[in-house]
Amino acid sequence: MTAASTPAPGSVAPPLDPATKSMDELVALCKRRGFVYPASEIYGGLNGFWDYGPLGTALKNAIRDHWWKHSVECPPLDPDTGEPVSIVGLDSSIIQNPRTWEASGHVGGFSDPMVDCTETKKRYRADQVEVLVVEGRGKWAFMENQPDTIAKKLKKAGVALDDGERKLLPDFDLSEFASIIAPDTDKPGTFTEPREFNLMFSTYVGALATEDNKAYLRPETAQGIFLNYKNVLDTMRVKVPFGIAQIGKSFRNEVTPRNFIFRSREFEQMEMEWFCAPEDSPKWYEFWKQERMDWWKTLGIAEANLRFRDHDDDELAHYSRMCVDVEYKYPFTAPGFGELEGVAHRGCFDLTQHQEHSKTKMEYFDQERQLAAKAEGKSKEEIDAVSKYIPNVIEPASGLTRAVLVLLCEAFTPTPDRKGSAYIMSFKPKFAPVKAGVFPLVNKDGMPEVARKLYLSLREKHAVEYDAKQSIGKRYARMDEIGTPFCFTVDGDTLDDQTVTVRERDTLAQERIHVDQVEAYLDAKLAE
Ligand code: GLY
Repeated sequence: MTAASTPAPGSVAPPLDPATKSMDELVALCKRRGFVYPASEIYGGLNGFWDYGPLGTALKNAIRDHWWKHSVECPPLDPDTGEPVSIVGLDSSIIQNPRTWEASGHVGGFSDPMVDCTETKKRYRADQVEVLVVEGRGKWAFMENQPDTIAKKLKKAGVALDDGERKLLPDFDLSEFASIIAPDTDKPGTFTEPREFNLMFSTYVGALATEDNKAYLRPETAQGIFLNYKNVLDTMRVKVPFGIAQIGKSFRNEVTPRNFIFRSREFEQMEMEWFCAPEDSPKWYEFWKQERMDWWKTLGIAEANLRFRDHDDDELAHYSRMCVDVEYKYPFTAPGFGELEGVAHRGCFDLTQHQEHSKTKMEYFDQERQLAAKAEGKSKEEIDAVSKYIPNVIEPASGLTRAVLVLLCEAFTPTPDRKGSAYIMSFKPKFAPVKAGVFPLVNKDGMPEVARKLYLSLREKHAVEYDAKQSIGKRYARMDEIGTPFCFTVDGDTLDDQTVTVRERDTLAQERIHVDQVEAYLDAKLAE
């Protein structure tokens, strides 16, 4: 062990820069330790689909519950009144009447530009293809952020990545395509003209596969919320401003799924639509922007790995007036950052569209504003103008499965000098899939009985594991790799003085506490 890689007991190592972490190693660990498996692996997998193993499911559920708690059960305080804001939960259908997606603009406008390679039959998202232009030598295309995939080709051509200028494919004139070498071939001129490709998966409802029966898997959970805005308003004693929160699966037929679970075709979203008076929308936009950044920090993500990025006008979604992303420094974007959550100002776009298409009135009558305007002596027209409106919407929209990826990346820590474990997963204890391991030091002398009794009492409250197999060193190593923050070991002294050893994952610090204090110890650590 060296001082640099393993801190002294009691001290905590600073988080590693994501740029130093290997995605290949992380993906391998995720498979080996039951976090994430390729979907339908025994049939060769299916690009863009992943299965969450036992530990990945536990991690995902912990993040899901934390989001729900902070959104629905214990939402933040209104900065003006000091009272909790009002947010209710929802679980809407994945498949809705297909007119939903015409009204929302997804049938007409939810597409990405796509190019094909006529040589390899591979398909790419045009705006994710970068091209290295070396004047007089050639033009080599590669997938954004993956320049190493063409390293061999460039070597053969005798050029280096920094020899030329890099541009995105859509910035080239079509006439120049003839000279560009696509990422997976050596021949120039194999790219097709870019075409728009709708990202929604379609299916048929009922026995007949006809155009009349065509429906879509939702590409965002948000529309289920807009469809139920009136229902919630009429049944739940809520008043604008209020929010509706939903967690659930969404589906996008991504042209190029990539970077492990970062961009997959089936994923889970955590979305909240905040309905507010149009004049108040700038205030709430700023409020939710800051709230969401603060929430990400509660997951134990280092501040240096998070940042805001405002969207440029030309990258706004069709429904957005403005949008800011919370970004994370992923190992595959570092030193740059990539999207984690979008906070969008959707204006009154969605409710207006659904009002027009469904003929259901979405207008809100704001009694408080009416009374305030009356008290100010405003005219009838002025009173109507402020008290009858279609609410504006501020939408913090994050990916649950992307949050899983971020916690996996953040926790992943190679420990080349630690005996037994090549890696530790240093999750914040609250999010660790297993909160504690309970071990007998050896399988004799009454130790298993005491350890089992402790395990059976702790499991009522927390996800803990009893393990008596293999050597104690191997058991600690496994717990390190799955990110278990504490291990309680029953040894010979326990039988004399009823104390157990607590071993701390990140610092390797060990202390003895009374067996009766273990539950309170764990409660306190998990509450942090
Ligand atoms: N509802 C916004 C999104 O799905 O990105």
